[in-house]
Amino acid sequence: MNFDEIIERRNTNSMKWDQLEAKYQDGELWPMWVADMDFRAPEPVLKALDDVTRHGVFGYHHPPHSLRQAIQDWTSRRFGWEIKPEAMTFTPGVVPAIHHLINAYTDEGDGIIIQTPVYHPFFALLRSNRRTLQENRLLEKDDGKYEIDFDDLEAHMKNGAKMIILCNPHNPVGRVWSESELARIAELCARYDVTVISDEIHADLILQGKHTPFAKLEAAKDLQVATCMAPSKTFNLASLQLSYVIFNSEEMQKKLEQQMQRNFMGIGNPYSSAAAEAAYRHGEPWLEELLSYVQGNIDYVSERLQNEMPSIGFVKPEATYLLWLDFRKLELTQDDLQKWLRKEGKIALNDGHMFGKAGSGFARMNVATPREHVVEGMNRLKTAYDKKINN
Ligand SMILES: Cc1ncc(COP(=O)(O)O)c(C=O)c1O
Repeated sequence: MNFDEIIERRNTNSMKWDQLEAKYQDGELWPMWVADMDFRAPEPVLKALDDVTRHGVFGYHHPPHSLRQAIQDWTSRRFGWEIKPEAMTFTPGVVPAIHHLINAYTDEGDGIIIQTPVYHPFFALLRSNRRTLQENRLLEKDDGKYEIDFDDLEAHMKNGAKMIILCNPHNPVGRVWSESELARIAELCARYDVTVISDEIHADLILQGKHTPFAKLEAAKDLQVATCMAPSKTFNLASLQLSYVIFNSEEMQKKLEQQMQRNFMGIGNPYSSAAAEAAYRHGEPWLEELLSYVQGNIDYVSERLQNEMPSIGFVKPEATYLLWLDFRKLELTQDDLQKWLRKEGKIALNDGHMFGKAGSGFARMNVATPREHVVEGMNRLKTAYDKKINN
């Protein structure tokens, strides 16, 4: 796969490329925001999609057993996690899945823990379902790396939290939670009877260390755990809207399925099933190449920041193609930081503040794009930086 190939995405209804005007009132910004990739999906996926088109009949569909088996093989091979094909429920996205999981296991007013700064829809999911936010802020160490504040986490559980939504690996701070960190969370959940949603959508995008599915832990064996996964981030299939939830309890799975039925939510699309199965069965070599390409982009950004923009803080992520850039040394208000990035840098990064107050002074940069695009983005950032520093 030639990840250097520039594929024009303008005028393709791409959210990242075609919604700059709507979102930022400036269609000329360089888009390094929305978490998708500017790469074409693996060739076997394209072939599988062509086959569906050529068949040409688009009647009602159900995800086939062979897809369940492909996922089972994938989790076994990639994570040493043995699951049963029937222990998964398909959903049209991880965010909708979490919405229904929240409704299946908690009631209005119940406390739910999230670990901030974190993927912004977690806040919206709690707000729209009228659950009580219990914010367990991650601790930022001197070297810029984030850790879990276990004392605060336990205090929230003592305070009656019913559920925790984990982000494993973590978006936006890029941590791959270690087995021992996850085991400590599991022990606390067991002690205080807390249900776990583990959002593992980034599990395949590991750059350092290894991914541990929370539910695989011995310490999580007797807990209520719903694990959300998808091929969408891994193989750039987000718009095909297929994800799945893996359960360690049949009763829990039944509750989700009842909740989905009550909301008339079905899942079934021949394109998403075919793409997902082809990706899991034949996409692994593509994924390995992708990971080394993304690592190359990260190394490039890191070098340029260190050599040319030392006041922008940065720790290489252990997972994901999302970089958590620390602009606090520039002493701009959050509003001014975003304005400065857009006006002087002509670049669209995600505002750190949308990941919670803990994201103040930060912005998130997406480097799942050809190197030439990363170079352009960094050149723009450098122009803004030089103006600011020499001012
Ligand atoms: C942690 C996390 N969960 C969920 C999603 C989105 O999932 P979906 O598009 O399947 O709803 C993202 C996308 O960036 C994410 O980072």
